[in-house]
Amino acid sequence: MHNETAFSQVQPHTPAPLPLDLFRRGFEYLRDRWPLGHTLPVQDNFLQTAAGQSKAPPWHIEAIVRRNWRRHVSIPCGWIARHLPRQAAIFEPGCGSGANLLWLASRGFTHLNGSDIDETVLEFSDRLQTHLGHSLNIWQDNALAPSRLPKNQGAILSVNWLYHLPGASQDSFFDIYKGCLSPEGVFVFDAVSHKYNTVANNQYHTDDWGMPEDQRRPSEYTFRLSHQDVADLARRHGFSVLRQTMTHSRPQRCVYMLGRARQN
Ligand SMILES: C[S@@+](CC[C@H](N)C(=O)[O-])C[C@H]1O[C@@H](n2cnc3c(N)ncnc32)[C@H](O)[C@@H]1O
Repeated sequence: MHNETAFSQVQPHTPAPLPLDLFRRGFEYLRDRWPLGHTLPVQDNFLQTAAGQSKAPPWHIEAIVRRNWRRHVSIPCGWIARHLPRQAAIFEPGCGSGANLLWLASRGFTHLNGSDIDETVLEFSDRLQTHLGHSLNIWQDNALAPSRLPKNQGAILSVNWLYHLPGASQDSFFDIYKGCLSPEGVFVFDAVSHKYNTVANNQYHTDDWGMPEDQRRPSEYTFRLSHQDVADLARRHGFSVLRQTMTHSRPQRCVYMLGRARQN
């Protein structure tokens, strides 16, 4: 007997990916993880002196020295360099020393903006810019409640800062920064994966794991997101996920590129 309801169980035919597609995906995966091409040409002793003089936290030296291995930073910057025209303006809230913007400057971008709350880091950035012969437009601001927002940006780059701040959320970040983007503008950011929620002691600061529980601080990874969380947030703000990829790090982070959702 013909059974109408059986049709609802038939899965729509989805074509298997073409070999070319698989090759392209494999190539992109490897290119994102290739540990070359993301360094800044600065000597260790310059970094030590400049950070010492400006009193910037030593973390910023480490971030520059290990830049090739910091996938959650180099993948987003690599995407921008591959996909955006050189005249596009890029804005990085929580930019620290401006290392990411300086790398983009070395790739030919000239409209580079950033903000950071820490004036010692901004001074360190000034020294770096002079040393490398690039000029960034960086100002001091609380990027969670900014007093100054640029317009018509081709990308908002947000890496390795938002999920460290108590009270911050990706949702309010989109609310604040989507107005900065041009119609073709993209969000490029990293997020700590929800998979970190299953790691033992994930609720505590990693530096305190060896201490008695009642002396441990809360985790430095204040929020974690799944791919679905990001897709839902993107939709709510009128964006869609153009690309997502994960990094093999602890905690596992994912990198996302969002563009404005097309109206049908
Ligand atoms: C871990 S560093 C990352 C810097 C840069 N995004 C990178 O990946 O190299 C975090 C930066 O966020 C900055 N920051 C923290 N809270 C901030 C706030 N409310 N507004 C702006 N910057 C902030 C810190 O000063 C620091 O430079």
